Amino acid sequence: MSVETLKWTSLPYTETQIADEAARLHSQLSIIGWSPVECSLIAPLTWEINKLKREMNAVILAHSYQTPDIIYGIADHVGDSLGLSQVAATTDADVVVFCGVKFMAETAKILSPEKTVLLPDDRAGCSLAASITAEDVRELKRQYPGVPVVCYVNTYAEVKAECDACCTSANALAVVNDMEGDRVIFLPDTLMAQNLRPHTDKEIIAWNGTCVVHENFGSAELEAFRGQYPDAKVLAHTECVPEVVAQADMAGSTSGMERYIAEHEEAKTFMLVTECGMTDKLKVQFPDRDFIGTCVLCPFMKKIELRNVLTAMKNPDSSQVIELDRQVINGARRSLDRMLQVGRAERVK
Ligand code: 13P
Ligand code: SF4
Repeated sequence: MSVETLKWTSLPYTETQIADEAARLHSQLSIIGWSPVECSLIAPLTWEINKLKREMNAVILAHSYQTPDIIYGIADHVGDSLGLSQVAATTDADVVVFCGVKFMAETAKILSPEKTVLLPDDRAGCSLAASITAEDVRELKRQYPGVPVVCYVNTYAEVKAECDACCTSANALAVVNDMEGDRVIFLPDTLMAQNLRPHTDKEIIAWNGTCVVHENFGSAELEAFRGQYPDAKVLAHTECVPEVVAQADMAGSTSGMERYIAEHEEAKTFMLVTECGMTDKLKVQFPDRDFIGTCVLCPFMKKIELRNVLTAMKNPDSSQVIELDRQVINGARRSLDRMLQVGRAERVK
């Protein structure tokens, strides 16, 4: 047996399989400048992950802020927090691999507790989720007895279990308006709370969390951009400061941005005031449009890579498997069910 044959028989794939995989990747990633060589470098990883996925009856859910190798190489579903929760609640896969952050993987576990849920790197946190504990919520409830509590989905399971309803950026206003009484505690995103206030009659009592990505964008940069590209549409996430949201053509969730682009065929240039990863995803999705993105990365989202996805699927260590207390699951499930009943109710400017 030649050395060359030995090399290939010790690997789980053939040279042809990898060449086909590289060509598949290149057909999409070339749009954002990936070369054939770059695609062949990741092809063994994406090929093996996709094979394991079939063998394990696994589904890979990826948030839109993930890198293009994950989105276009291995993901079965890509979307915003609400869309991915809806898939997690209904999938018939045995294993859910979450390419996103921990609160999203926990949400999948709460909605499908019998499934194995894998998060490839447990450092994939979120500044909003880290800003509040279950005890903080209990203290708020002592301070404001009887006032319903709405938590943004960017919270950990113990926090969700203390709340009356969850929401995402795709239905926050509808969930707030759906609560009984004229006051609502909204946590943990203080900027999202500020963005909701002008659109509801409810008094909103807010927590003081912020997103380390979206709090960076200011109205001065937007004004400069508007001067340079007067015909461009500005799409901002509702985690941004109110001054930015006020100047945007559309403010909402990441999926809301996609829908806005699809529905505005006349618009050719878009500025995305959100995490950097969205730009590459949308460039592949809408190759005939121009996107000007920001270069602020979410350090938590970027902890997920093809290599740790592969190790989590092959031989997960305990930090990669989501485990939650049964009581916490039951409490958090009530909050999530209320959110899922409302569904998508995006307010697009
Ligand atoms: P979306 O639900 O809009 O995708 O937002 C999630 C998130 O973490 C934004 O920073
Ligand atoms: Fe959390 Fe902000 Fe990262 Fe979203 S972008 S996961 S809100 S830190």
